Amino acid sequence: MSAPISDALVLFGATGDLAGKKIYPALQQMIRRGDLDVPVIGIARGGWDLERLRGYVRASLEKHEGFDAAAFARLSDLLRFVDGDYNDAATFARLCAALGTAQRPLFYLAIPPSMFPIVVDGLGKLPCAADSRVVVEKPFGRSLASAQHLNRTLHQVFDEAAIFRIDHYLGKEAVQNLLFFRFANSFLEPIWNRNYVESVQITMAEAFGVEGRGLFYEEVGAVRDVIQNHLLQVVAILAMEPPVGNGSGPLRDEKVKVFRAIRPLTGRSLVRGQYCGYRSEAGVAPDSCVETFAAMQIHLDSWRWQGVPFFIRAGKHLPVTATEVVVALRRPPQQVFPDASPAQSNYLRFRLGPRQVAIAIGARVKRHGTENVGDEIELYVCNTQDDEMEAYERLIGDAMKGDATLFAREDGVEAAWRIVDPILDKKTPLRDYEPGTWGPAEAGGMISEVGGWRNPQAAG
Ligand code: BG6
Repeated sequence: MSAPISDALVLFGATGDLAGKKIYPALQQMIRRGDLDVPVIGIARGGWDLERLRGYVRASLEKHEGFDAAAFARLSDLLRFVDGDYNDAATFARLCAALGTAQRPLFYLAIPPSMFPIVVDGLGKLPCAADSRVVVEKPFGRSLASAQHLNRTLHQVFDEAAIFRIDHYLGKEAVQNLLFFRFANSFLEPIWNRNYVESVQITMAEAFGVEGRGLFYEEVGAVRDVIQNHLLQVVAILAMEPPVGNGSGPLRDEKVKVFRAIRPLTGRSLVRGQYCGYRSEAGVAPDSCVETFAAMQIHLDSWRWQGVPFFIRAGKHLPVTATEVVVALRRPPQQVFPDASPAQSNYLRFRLGPRQVAIAIGARVKRHGTENVGDEIELYVCNTQDDEMEAYERLIGDAMKGDATLFAREDGVEAAWRIVDPILDKKTPLRDYEPGTWGPAEAGGMISEVGGWRNPQAAG
């Protein structure tokens, strides 16, 4: 039996940055596809009214997504606004009035984590929303202990089945494609293990800096911002066993098993970097030790992956913006043709965006002519579509339907924090790197044994 659909969407932080950049564009798209037809109640403090919110929504859509007059008109009709302080019980009374007959609202907390307990407490006292669900934005805690605390706070009011912790990477088409490719093809399984895979590397490169988010970034750094969540989720999809059965439970069970198999990180397997100029960004301390780049090796203690090194790196102000996975295969046991250099091996390359979703297989083929010499080629499939569903659209739609498959579960979030917790103390030395480079030179050293990093190319 499928879960009932939410009958209202309540957006805490309706006047904020995230709402403007990601949530309103997603709602406009949902309306265009006929997937949203319930009241959308914005709530925020600051003395705004409905007309001002409509103006903000319009301006956000014009700035971030192709503005669609008809969809915006419909969204304007669905919009309501509640102004008020989250500490004030009267705010929640007004919210109740705005909900009218709705019984199963979806509460979306697009607010700073420090506000979660106050808002969750207010929601717990609402007499009018017994069957509600809640969407919680990342970062989900700052460490294992704070994530556990946050989970306890949420569980005082919501069952785990009603909690949707967003990691927008899981809503990306490219990440879905990775999961699909792994389990929809039989040719992969025999080689997808320690017998054939030599190493795995994941690069999340961004060609820009903190872009006005210095204050936020100072609280997180690269490990908390994108590795504990987005990139460990990618590792889980690459390394997991096939889920047994359908639904959100079996898939999330397998991912949690991967997190549990990863050894907690140590400073020895980590390189931290900071781009030159970061300390002059607005909101950044002049002596900041926050990393804008991190590279690490992780070890999985599992039957399938024992001894296969997984390398992860992520950084701001690198040469290109691209996320890529390279699964390098072992070389053939015997060198029949003399030309292959020791660095050359077969590989699978997954491009996870932006704009480009691609799967490539690196192979060697014979060059035309009389001699048995070869060339490295890529068998390459690139799949992009203009009307591709954005991650936020997919995830809000799923949360409204009560489908938690693409959301992080309590045990998964905590297991992922357990991996990075030991390296959050910033004790690993911080290396400078020039903007536009691939980070500190030390990051190259950690992977030289398996041929070094393969740097993603700029999107064509
Ligand atoms: C966010 C991080 O979660 O993901 C940002 O906070 C990062 O720092 C962003 O830039 C990358 O996501 P996307 O979808 O733009 O690749």
